[in-house]
Amino acid sequence: MTDAPKLIDPFARAITYLRVSVTDRCDFRCVYCMSENMTFLPKKELLSLEELDRLCTAFVDQGVRKLRITGGEPLVRRGIMDYFRGMKRHIESGKLDELTLTTNGSQLRRFAKELAECGVKRVNISLDTLDEKKFAEITRWGRLAQVLDGIDAAQEAGLRVKINVVALKGGNEDELEKIVEWCADRGMDLTFIEVMPMGDLGNEDRLDQYWSLKDLRARLEKTWTLSELSESTGGPARYVRVNETGQKIGFITPLTHNFCESCNRVRLTCTGQLFQCLGQEDEADLRKVLRDNPDNDAPLVAAIHAAIAKKPKGHDFDYSRQNVAGTMSRHMSHTGG
Ligand code: GTP
Ligand code: 5AD
Ligand code: SF4
Repeated sequence: MTDAPKLIDPFARAITYLRVSVTDRCDFRCVYCMSENMTFLPKKELLSLEELDRLCTAFVDQGVRKLRITGGEPLVRRGIMDYFRGMKRHIESGKLDELTLTTNGSQLRRFAKELAECGVKRVNISLDTLDEKKFAEITRWGRLAQVLDGIDAAQEAGLRVKINVVALKGGNEDELEKIVEWCADRGMDLTFIEVMPMGDLGNEDRLDQYWSLKDLRARLEKTWTLSELSESTGGPARYVRVNETGQKIGFITPLTHNFCESCNRVRLTCTGQLFQCLGQEDEADLRKVLRDNPDNDAPLVAAIHAAIAKKPKGHDFDYSRQNVAGTMSRHMSHTGG
């Protein structure tokens, strides 16, 4: 039986989904996510694996039922499998419905099998193009073959795969139908994401990258018949079924459709800051509470409740009038998407 949710925000939204960034580092440098020369945090700033376990367990005890591990690239964090092995106990006890991760796929050949053994059932893999040359341009440091092999490994391990595609004007526009067909052939779900104004990217211009999912969807409807689905995975995506292929496609549209009213999540950074919203600056320093009270979780639980009581209504991202408003200075790799 599921307990009644304990974390309720000021807008009566139950917070049952925690996204946890376990590292700000990544082996790629995607143009919409990082600049080429990133400065990463020193190790002592990061939550240790033990601290991560303690914090996540506190959230689970407060009614969080879904944990999504992100980064940077979560699988480049040293020892991360110890953390997953630890979280397995919450899946086994029935306290957690889902333990999952969002990854660039580069390390899945190494870890997919073990992840499945820890109770992970599905993974979201970021992949914006199937063209080797373009892949190298978008990710700067990534190699497509390695990610495709990682996807194979995930499927061989029995993990369900969802592909996340950031819609990029002039980037993957010409591959839209090909990507849809590729996912259908491999039995993978697919989600398109509008590019959000996160982080200072140096030379990259956000408005140049922005391809509205309204336009993308209209393009899809020239080839396929889409029927609206009412289901939700507890994420912000709205889903359609492609009648001809039977596959599911999600749209994450922070710019053209604001889904904040049904937000059920908060995000923890790798340094233990709790962000109540991806698109706002409000945060709570849970690392300090954790380190000040090594043997007593009561102050931590109180700090979690105090933070949820301040969750804002939503983000202010806006590309209208040809300028970018609501921009966040933090990089996506800091809060984990
Ligand atoms: P599912 O469990 O598969 O529904 O996952 P999800 O869509 O919640 O997670 P995923 O990590 O695949 O998220 C994809 C992207 O959606 C994120 O990286 C963000 O870009 C975006 N996203 C997720 N949650 C939020 C949110 O609360 N606000 C905004 N603006 N974007 C979000
Ligand atoms: N806008 C939208 N999506 C982004 N991602 C990273 N940066 C951005 C951005 N600025 C996506 C990645 C991955 C997920 C974790 O976030 O492609 O799918
Ligand atoms: Fe790494 Fe993901 Fe950011 Fe790309 S989008 S640089 S893979 S964290």
